Amino acid sequence: MANQLFARKPIKLILEEMAGENRLRRVLGPVTLSSLGIGAIIGTGIFVLTGVAAHDKTGPALMLSYVVAGVTCIFAALCYAEFAAMVPVAGSAYTYAYATLGELFAWIIGWDLILEYAVGSATVAHGWSHYFQNFIGLFGMHIPAVLRSAPFDYDPHTGVLAPNGHIVDLPAVVVALGVTVILVKGIKESANFNTAMVILKLAIVLFVIFAGIPHVNPANWRPFAPFGMGGISFFGHTLMGQTGKGGEPLGMMAGAATIFFAYIGFDSVSTHAEEAKNPQRDVPIGILSSLLICTVLYIAVSAVITGMVPYDKIDIDAPIPSAFASVGMPWAQFLISLGALAGITSVLLVLMLSQPRVMLAMARDGLVPREFFSAVHEKFRTPWKSSMLTGGFVALLGGFLPLRILAELVNIGTLLAFVIVCGAVLILRKTHPELPRPFRCPMVPVVPVLGILSCLVLMFSLPAENWWRLVIWLLIGFVIYFGYGRHHSVMRRLQP
Ligand code: ALA
Repeated sequence: MANQLFARKPIKLILEEMAGENRLRRVLGPVTLSSLGIGAIIGTGIFVLTGVAAHDKTGPALMLSYVVAGVTCIFAALCYAEFAAMVPVAGSAYTYAYATLGELFAWIIGWDLILEYAVGSATVAHGWSHYFQNFIGLFGMHIPAVLRSAPFDYDPHTGVLAPNGHIVDLPAVVVALGVTVILVKGIKESANFNTAMVILKLAIVLFVIFAGIPHVNPANWRPFAPFGMGGISFFGHTLMGQTGKGGEPLGMMAGAATIFFAYIGFDSVSTHAEEAKNPQRDVPIGILSSLLICTVLYIAVSAVITGMVPYDKIDIDAPIPSAFASVGMPWAQFLISLGALAGITSVLLVLMLSQPRVMLAMARDGLVPREFFSAVHEKFRTPWKSSMLTGGFVALLGGFLPLRILAELVNIGTLLAFVIVCGAVLILRKTHPELPRPFRCPMVPVVPVLGILSCLVLMFSLPAENWWRLVIWLLIGFVIYFGYGRHHSVMRRLQP
């Protein structure tokens, strides 16, 4: 049994399978790949979580939180780039883990990617809802109170979910189902559509920075770190920094763990490696340049917003338009809400597009039911069953669970995936030093080790209950793997 759990899928086999399938057209160059990355990155994180993090955890030190989370992602991105150039297939981290760490780790990462993509989409749907409500509010329209938000609020001070009188976040449900219909019908985001979205998003972000600068009052940056620079805990015991009333870590590092969400999405560039004209060179460029551009923009936006509004007055639902409203620029509010809505919609599309692809890769390997997850619609030629399952799951979570819980769960899940990818680079360098590596992560083992350590530090900077949620999630995954995947695995049949 142990043999199978750690059975690796030979890279040669992965490359052969890839050659056997219908290949996608190689049309994407470095600029388009970078814009795909930015398209998937800029969304709910910067437009919504900035408010929660600055208000509850960091104050103006949020700028440094963005630096820390950005640098962590760059370590992970360098490792992703090495793999994506070496094994340019869809399936991304799941496939990399199968090739290096064996089937059980591949399963863990595939299961874990549901947190990044599907639970991530639910979080993004929440962000969309906040902005939608803000937007229609500009025209004096409002959604009935009971349909405005998830029925529970999570109180970080007490750690309990308390009913709040609402029933469901209807806009979040509607956008999740709407995007599902589009995905099932097969409307693919063309590179041009993405580029248009990115131009719009970048224009809005640059507008926020340059229109906001004249309204910055440097006095708002003092104190710079009202909650301190720490925020690391170990299963509920504070190691460094302040602790909130509910025992949750506070401070710059705790903020970095929250806004880490804003960077999620750069790894989706790796799933486009098959469509790249020159994956060896352009995928690393796409991953790294989109990250670097977003890091710089995020630091600037957080500096402007915390400079415009005292941190404890920042609106946690729609911080950026509210900041402009507070300085008497209602037209800017309109523009920002519109741009944010369009931008967040594209993130949702990309994340919900990625989930069925990972499931498809797992179904081909027999780890999840092939008939369901690799079923392609006769007319639309899309993985419609798995897209609809994803859409239903996203609508359910987005409609009924509060944003804070979702975002933190996504973060810890994605950070775990990054730890495994960084570890996989180290392992493959040892086990297969001879394989051609068109892009080599620099300074191995330093960069992957720093990647692992910085991801772990961020994981420990999240409130401790996220670890338990992650463990429960993985246990559910183990039950499915040992009940189904292990018996249906294609590798099991190939084994002597
Ligand atoms: N980084 C993406 C966002 O912030 C997931 O919406």
